[in-house]
Amino acid sequence: SRPIAGGRPVVLVGLMGAGKTTVGRRLAALLDRPFVDADAEIERAAGIGIADIFERYGEAEFRRGERQVIRRLLAGPPVVLATGGGAFMDDETRRAIRQNAVSVWLRCPLNTLLRRVAGRTHRPLLNQGNPRDILSALMERRHPVYAEADVIVDCSEEGVEQTTRAVAGAL
Ligand code: S3P
Repeated sequence: SRPIAGGRPVVLVGLMGAGKTTVGRRLAALLDRPFVDADAEIERAAGIGIADIFERYGEAEFRRGERQVIRRLLAGPPVVLATGGGAFMDDETRRAIRQNAVSVWLRCPLNTLLRRVAGRTHRPLLNQGNPRDILSALMERRHPVYAEADVIVDCSEEGVEQTTRAVAGAL
């Protein structure tokens, strides 16, 4: 039978709260592949949390680290990779993903995203104002770019299991 995703990495993209990490973990288990979270790898490489990276070094420096980490992960054995919401917006990172992986956009309505990110403080971009305003502005800017993903899956109201199956079915 055909190997899943042609043996390439599967990369989940989408906004904060879309469920990239949660669905990614489930999908990796289902496909019997390792799961890697890009944000966690960046934190590990930097030795500090994402919020601290933004605060001390700024977003541009975070994106540089993100680019490096993702490029390295794409070159290794085929994993399921959850990326931070801004990763696919970076031209170089997006090019690397499109060349080396199958990309999946987890598309979710604003209210679902808001519900999931409520009360979290580890996302520096959401601490700069009203989360609804920030997310809807990000949505407007990012959705046209996320739409370049190979596969688009709407996040299911029925939950993670359903969304995971929808992704697996589309690979
Ligand atoms: C970001 C999303 C975050 C993290 C960083 C920036 C973004 O990841 O990478 O805070 O630009 O949307 P999640 O999408 O996993 O929250």
